[in-house]
Amino acid sequence: MTSISLSAIEKSFGNTPVLNGIDLDITDGEFLTLVGPSGCGKSTLLRILAGLEMPDQGSVTINGLTVNNVRPANRNLAMVFQSYALYPHLSVAQNMMTPLRLRDLSFAGRLPFLGPVVARERYREMSAQVGETARVLKIDHLLDRKPGQLSGGQRQRAALGRAMVRKPVAFLMDEPLSNLDAALRIHMRSELAELHRSLKTTFVYVTHDQAEALTMSDRMAVMMEGQILQLGSPEKIYNDPMDIRVAEFVGAPKINLLPGTLDEAGHVRCGGMVLSRITSNETVGSITLGLRPEHLALCEQGALESLTGQVVHKENLGADIYLHVSVLDAAHRIVLRATPDEGTSVSIGQTVHFKRLCGHAMVFGKDGGRLGLSNAAHESVAEVA
Ligand SMILES: Nc1ncnc2c1ncn2[C@@H]1O[C@H](COP(=O)(O)OP(=O)(O)OP(=O)(O)O)[C@@H](O)[C@H]1O
Ligand SMILES: [Mg+2]
Repeated sequence: MTSISLSAIEKSFGNTPVLNGIDLDITDGEFLTLVGPSGCGKSTLLRILAGLEMPDQGSVTINGLTVNNVRPANRNLAMVFQSYALYPHLSVAQNMMTPLRLRDLSFAGRLPFLGPVVARERYREMSAQVGETARVLKIDHLLDRKPGQLSGGQRQRAALGRAMVRKPVAFLMDEPLSNLDAALRIHMRSELAELHRSLKTTFVYVTHDQAEALTMSDRMAVMMEGQILQLGSPEKIYNDPMDIRVAEFVGAPKINLLPGTLDEAGHVRCGGMVLSRITSNETVGSITLGLRPEHLALCEQGALESLTGQVVHKENLGADIYLHVSVLDAAHRIVLRATPDEGTSVSIGQTVHFKRLCGHAMVFGKDGGRLGLSNAAHESVAEVA
């Protein structure tokens, strides 16, 4: 069992605060993603965990031991960066063997003189370890190649292999897929997730790509401005974001945000849509209604709670067509997901009517915090209007 904890981590560069009190307990064997926009402090946090950066305040604990003063090499964490940094003059096998050789070196302080028989035996052991790791990564047929003779994905796997041979307590990965082209990146997402399932080792993975975080993680920590805003499973973060920043960050296309009002009776109104029974003690006035594109559907004119708008753009993705519709007197634009059949028959400039799917809506208060809706919040407008 490996337990890793970051507690009350603070870090500034000069006068600029970068991390403001991060608390994070990483569960043994989980795939945890640190995700957030560029500059929010993800890499700095990972580097603090790896020991490449010292926190100003707070502690890093691995298996109950505070490791703030333990050198990176002695934390037994393997780091994989965006740039694979393979030695170009060494073969894949030699690259993968390097950490094992370095470990021998660091144990002995210098490479011990092993008699030729022992040295050959040690070499055989290391080769077996490299071979086994290469088989897991499906690069065993590439062991004699130099990095320059590999594709981007193969190079990425070789770098992973180099990190894996030491059998670290956890893998720390900083945007390891961002140098790959789009198709390979998507392919490698599932490979990494599979690898994680087979290794059962803790992965701490940094990305600014919310799709990577949603598709691979057991839990994701959404970071902004040096803080963790929300930590939870991808399903929880997507379906139950705690505030408007998290709701906007996850999901592509983005969640639609429309202005609305909350009245004394606890009803939220936005154009023709009405939601009832806000359970929070929010004062009446303006609120923001959040509707994901897949939770809106085209409907007949005059349908209850429908909104009307004009199609300004169509994005055909094959399986889905996203309609961009200008609404509320053309002051706002929303995106709704239509089936290919529905989407094809709609033309740009056409007036369309749509409504939210029952049970799907989020309401955010003036400070951006999520307001609770009672289970009855989706009852028909006839009952509340
Ligand atoms: N060594 C440094 N000296 C000064 N400022 C730094 C240093 N390293 C990082 N920063 C600043 O700290 C902030 C957080 O940087 P960090 O690299 O952790 O962001 P990130 O979330 O990983 O962003 P990205 O997604 O772009 O990689 C940024 O504003 C960055 O400019
Ligand atoms: Mg970074």
